[in-house]
Amino acid sequence: MPADIEVRHLHKKYGDNVAVADVSFTVEQGEIFGILGPNGAGKTTTVECVEGLRRPDGGEIRVLGLDPQHDRAELTQRLGVQLQDGQLPDRMTVGEALRLYRSFYREPADPQALMDALGLAAKHRTRYADLSGGQKQRLSIALALIGNPKVAVLDELTTGLDPQARRDTWSLIQDVRARGVTILLVTHFMEEAERLCDRVAVIDRGRVAAVDSPTGLTERVQDGQRIRFRPSVPFEDALLTDLPDVTGLTRQNDLVVVTGTENALNAITSVLARNNIVAQHLRVDQPSLEDAFVALTGNHPAAGADAAPGTSDASPAARS
Ligand SMILES: Nc1ncnc2c1ncn2[C@@H]1O[C@H](COP(=O)(O)OP(=O)(O)OP(=O)(O)O)[C@@H](O)[C@H]1O
Ligand SMILES: [Mg+2]
Repeated sequence: MPADIEVRHLHKKYGDNVAVADVSFTVEQGEIFGILGPNGAGKTTTVECVEGLRRPDGGEIRVLGLDPQHDRAELTQRLGVQLQDGQLPDRMTVGEALRLYRSFYREPADPQALMDALGLAAKHRTRYADLSGGQKQRLSIALALIGNPKVAVLDELTTGLDPQARRDTWSLIQDVRARGVTILLVTHFMEEAERLCDRVAVIDRGRVAAVDSPTGLTERVQDGQRIRFRPSVPFEDALLTDLPDVTGLTRQNDLVVVTGTENALNAITSVLARNNIVAQHLRVDQPSLEDAFVALTGNHPAAGADAAPGTSDASPAARS
C-alpha cells in the first residue's frame, strides 16, 4: 500500500529566501506523524505545500496518490486542514462556521458531536470575535475535522490551549486516528510529540535533521544518564571518575552531578555504599526528547512553545 503522504525533495523559496531547502518524508496510512522544529524552520511552508495552498519550486508531493496542485478539488474532499493562524469573519457564530464548512463536503461529520468533543457546545451561538484564543483554536480543530477527512494536517494543534483542553484534544486526535485517519501535525510541544506521534521529523533551516520515533530520537542523545545527589560526607572526584561507567562529574556547591552510561547508577551507589557515603536527594535524569531536539537543532524548544498564535511573521493574509 502506498504511503498516504509522500514528500520528496521539496524546495520552496519566497523571493531569495529559501524557506524549505530539501525536505523528504512519508506518512503511512493511520499514522500520526509530527513535524518539530525551531521558529522559521519551514514547517508551515512544508505543510502548506502538502495542502496545495502553496506551489513548490521543486520536488514532488503526493497525498492519497493525488497531486495537491493538479488535483486540488478532489483532494479538498479528503483532506482536513487546520491553519496556523486561520481567521473567520468576526460576526460568524461557531454554529454557522461549522454548518458552512460542513456544506463543502460530500460526507461530513456531525457538528454536534465535534462541538461536544471540543468543549464548544455552549458556544455555538457565540460570534467568532467574542471567542477566547483557546476557543478559536478549538474551533479551528473542529473545522479541520468536519469533512470526515482521510488525512488531517494540523499546524500547531494545541498552541494557546490550557492544559486540560490540550489533553482533551490529544484524546480526540487519538480517537480520530483510531477511525483510520492519517494525521500530520506540526508542534512545538515535546510532550505532545511524545504522547501522540508514532514518528517525528525534526526540521531545521529547511532541511530534515532526523526522522524517527520519539523514543528513537531520544536514544540518539549520547548523554546517557545524569545522576545528582548531595553526599553526606565530602569525597574526592576520582572515587567516581575512575569508574568505567562514569563519563563526567561536576559540582554545584554541595550538589554532585555525575554523567555516565545506563549502568552508572549501580556502579556509583555501590562505591558510595562501600565508602559509607549516603547519596542524599538522589535524582536520575534520562535524556528526553527535548535533549534530542536541542542536540539536533541547537535550539531550545521553549521559545517556540510560548509563542502565541499569530506572532509568526508568516501571516495568512500574505499567503496565496
Ligand atoms: N508569505 C511569506 N513570504 C515571505 N517569506 C515567508 C512567508 N512565509 C514564511 N516565510 C519565511 O519562510 C521561512 C519559513 O517560514 P515558516 O512559516 O514555514 O516557518 P515555521 O517553521 O512554520 O515557523 P514557526 O515555528 O514560527 O511557525 C521563514 O524564514 C519565514 O520568514
Ligand atoms: Mg509555522
